[in-house]
Amino acid sequence: MDPTPARLDLGRLLDRPGPDLSDDDAQQLRQDFTRFMMRYKFGMDEIVTKLTILRDEFAHLHESNPIENISSRLKNPDSIIEKMRRKGCDPTFVSIGEKITDIAGVRVTCSFVSDVYHVFDMLTSQSDVVIVEVRDYITDPKPNGYRSLHALIEVPVFLSDGEVPALVEVQLRTIAMDFWASLEHKIYYKYAEAVPQSLLDGLREASVTAGELDATMERLHAEVKTSGALPHELKAELVDGTASDPDAAFVERLKRLGR
Ligand code: GTP
Ligand code: MG
Repeated sequence: MDPTPARLDLGRLLDRPGPDLSDDDAQQLRQDFTRFMMRYKFGMDEIVTKLTILRDEFAHLHESNPIENISSRLKNPDSIIEKMRRKGCDPTFVSIGEKITDIAGVRVTCSFVSDVYHVFDMLTSQSDVVIVEVRDYITDPKPNGYRSLHALIEVPVFLSDGEVPALVEVQLRTIAMDFWASLEHKIYYKYAEAVPQSLLDGLREASVTAGELDATMERLHAEVKTSGALPHELKAELVDGTASDPDAAFVERLKRLGR
């Protein structure tokens, strides 16, 4: 199935038909556009379902959950047109599909950085998921301080006339990264991209602070997990220092743990 007409003028689709476009042509374009968008919507829904299954499985069977929140959005026609201009995109569905890779977007927030990579691994190791591209802005934050893990992934969508691949952009980040990104986005919006230097500096500083918070939370989380694995009496002795020969007692008890 190829929903690509020869030329596409999205502006005409948005109830602003030009004088040279007949009603029938406009109708046809609208239908082609709906079909084009449907593929992305279904792909996005599939990814959301996969993530929801993982989250629900953790909720039922595990003590903690690596997924805090899942959200999704389909790019609206106005944003697609704006991005087509920005990217110098030809007005064809093929060109839009190639140049605009975030028509379907899914965002996952996690408490800890380790959860971000864990969720990424669980999602991308599924047999029908193909990784097209990964951008790790956690390991390499953007110069403005933006941090997140981005993955472009492809999933098959089964339509009445066959299987088509759908491209979905998945952004995975911690709550701290999400907090930062939403404020930065609001500031950019408010200042129409001419953000005062003092705010840019403040944002960069806040990004470092958010990174430090993530590192501290990760360490505390690891500590809690490890201490949870120790027997109650050993923990009490370690805390109040009543173990007579701490080293020997500790080793002995650790040995018991391994049995
Ligand atoms: P666009 O920025 O969408 O043109 O795509 P790109 O090719 O530059 O890809 P990139 O991976 O840099 O960004 C994709 C998406 O990530 C954006 O649409 C935003 O949702 C998010 N993003 C990227 N950089 C920033 C940033 O500096 N601040 C915020 N708040 N979000 C960002
Ligand atoms: Mg960008």
